[in-house]
Amino acid sequence: MTPRIDRDRLLGSLRDLAAIGATAGGGVTRLALSDEDRAGRDLLRGWLEEAGLAVRVDDFGNMIGRRKGSTSEPSLLLASHCDTVWQGGKYDGAYGVLGALEVVRTLNDAGNTTRRPVEVVNWTNEEGVRFEPAMLCSGAVTGRFDKSYVYDRTDRDGRRFGDELQRIGYAGEERHRPGPASAYLELHIEQGPVLEDADLPLGVVEGIVGITWIDVTLTGRADHAGPSPMPLRHDALAAAARLISGVEELSRGVSGAVGTVGRLGVEPNAINTIPGRVVMSVDLRHPDRHALESLVAGLEKRAWQIEQVTGVEIALNRFWTSEQTLFDPAVVGAVDAACESLGLGHQHLWSGAGHDAKYAQDAWPSAMIFVRSRGGVSHCEEEESAPDDLEAGVNVLLRATLDLANR
Ligand code: GLV
Ligand code: MN
Ligand code: MN
Repeated sequence: MTPRIDRDRLLGSLRDLAAIGATAGGGVTRLALSDEDRAGRDLLRGWLEEAGLAVRVDDFGNMIGRRKGSTSEPSLLLASHCDTVWQGGKYDGAYGVLGALEVVRTLNDAGNTTRRPVEVVNWTNEEGVRFEPAMLCSGAVTGRFDKSYVYDRTDRDGRRFGDELQRIGYAGEERHRPGPASAYLELHIEQGPVLEDADLPLGVVEGIVGITWIDVTLTGRADHAGPSPMPLRHDALAAAARLISGVEELSRGVSGAVGTVGRLGVEPNAINTIPGRVVMSVDLRHPDRHALESLVAGLEKRAWQIEQVTGVEIALNRFWTSEQTLFDPAVVGAVDAACESLGLGHQHLWSGAGHDAKYAQDAWPSAMIFVRSRGGVSHCEEEESAPDDLEAGVNVLLRATLDLANR
């Protein structure tokens, strides 16, 4: 008989980790390489060690807990992240890491040794809100970003990734990176409304949409708000407002597209000065590569048109693109088979959010399991999933692990 996970132990661990960086509104702020991240990592390290895993830390701060197999064939990786966005939820990321821990604890209780080793991975800086871009350290391990690029990323206060990694005591060794691996699985909350709409607890994820991040700098002319007649101004924020509306219109106009301006900096940001400079972000996503490129082209055209009308100079810097990714059919099949064998309702879907599984798929056959999100919301304090669904997702991860780690 296949063992089942311990629901109370899983929920207890989720609760304990969510207490680190807990916000008044019921969410969590545990930014990458912050003091809260360090405290969360210390707690996780203790749990991994208690479960008998050999814990190591690589040169990007990725934490790996290894459970021996009966052979030393390439491992099965079970991974996600423990960093959060500002005022995020309790489960975005943490659920996948603690779900993997619960799988290991359950295997230990059952005295079950898999053929392949199992490695539990906590990726550093998945969210990309403190150090842009997202999925930075899975991307680094799988060859997308080089070390100096990663170490030189700075946060809004100018603090370097490399320095912060040292500061929290999680700068490890290059030889400690995850793998070699035969397959990669990531359990995550859906963060969207599809499963709730379909009244199903679980999703078998087939792929991740393409994402691109663009920095926009608008340079106008700061001037006195009183003596400056409207036709003579070069108001950077007024131009930015037009461009923000443009992002909204472009994205609404293309089926399957989403577009967001989530970060905005205004200078000098004073009531009686015309804004001279604005820096803002644009996040565009689409499952189809050509459609994503046409959104970017549309944005460039809008920016040019707004420049002509306002005299505000607009510079676009497209600094990150995560191409749309199709997961490995065999690993997707293992997730599907696990749902089937447990008799749990599921459907296939795509992820609109970015995940480390994207870069994992560049290196190893990968797939993801989604669990229904209440109200479909996330990246906010209201993010929630039902205990029954959380339990079901980890049982699927366990079943798929017993399959993939014994192949
Ligand atoms: C990560 O959460 C992303 O999709 O931006
Ligand atoms: Mn996540
Ligand atoms: Mn997230």
